[in-house]
Amino acid sequence: MTTRPRKPAPGTPAPGKLALTELAELKARRQPIAMITAYDAPSGRLADAAGADILLVGDSAAMTVLGHDSTVPATMDEMIVLTRAVNRGARRPLVVADMPFGSFQISDEKALGNAIRFLKEASADAVKVEGAGATLSRVRALVGAGVPTMGHIGLTPQSATMLGGFKAQGRTAEKARRLVEDAIALEAAGVFALVLEAVPAPVAARITELLSIPTIGIGAGAGCDGQVLVWHDLLGLYEGGSPRFVKQYADLATEITRAVSAYVSDVRERRFPEEQHTYSMPDEELALFESWTTDRV
Ligand code: KIV
Repeated sequence: MTTRPRKPAPGTPAPGKLALTELAELKARRQPIAMITAYDAPSGRLADAAGADILLVGDSAAMTVLGHDSTVPATMDEMIVLTRAVNRGARRPLVVADMPFGSFQISDEKALGNAIRFLKEASADAVKVEGAGATLSRVRALVGAGVPTMGHIGLTPQSATMLGGFKAQGRTAEKARRLVEDAIALEAAGVFALVLEAVPAPVAARITELLSIPTIGIGAGAGCDGQVLVWHDLLGLYEGGSPRFVKQYADLATEITRAVSAYVSDVRERRFPEEQHTYSMPDEELALFESWTTDRV
């Protein structure tokens, strides 16, 4: 009998890919999880090379990449294109696709159909949904069908208007208690990790202690099991002003503007292209070509 190389069974992580189950082990070992958003193949490749554990193809793409004022306009088709591109660049990190507004709010069936699109058309490893309440039933439907699902509570940008704008959540004892209840309910519904956004640090730390799944904080203090930042905020690429919880590690907008201005003035001053940027041809071919074109001028 000949032995043929075996393909991984459907649903088996690709070789080298971080397994979903390793996240809980990282929490147990108190080893912080590094998550970052990514929106294309280069950001996927660079974040992978930098050692990120999870890449979130966030619907923040609507603002950072597509130029909208909020995350609401992001569509499934746009998010699929971006997720597929991130997947082409990234190998080890888990790639989580953010379910955009309208893709999961209508019904469990619509949510499942859209989540399956992410897995089949964009090879996403998991999806993320915002909120608790009605979202709990969606999470049960997705997880029940075998779709790894990440939760997201606190400041949920898709419902920012209902939350009174982009501001911290859970700042009264009562509101903090509701966040704890939502977190516990989402864990019971089956999420494998939970994003806590713009939540007071002591509340996020308490939720982290109470859950056995990892919490990933953004503006939620150091007590979470992991942290996430938006690619453009971290690199200084977003011109719309960043929230106070952002730590900017580079100023790429300034660097890019400097480089592109240098190129523009080189073109205008005829300093570019130089000899090393151009192609030549054999002398005899050039002579033939010139005699041919000279005859026709
Ligand atoms: O869309 C996004 O980038 C997010 C993160 C802020 C968690 O949801």
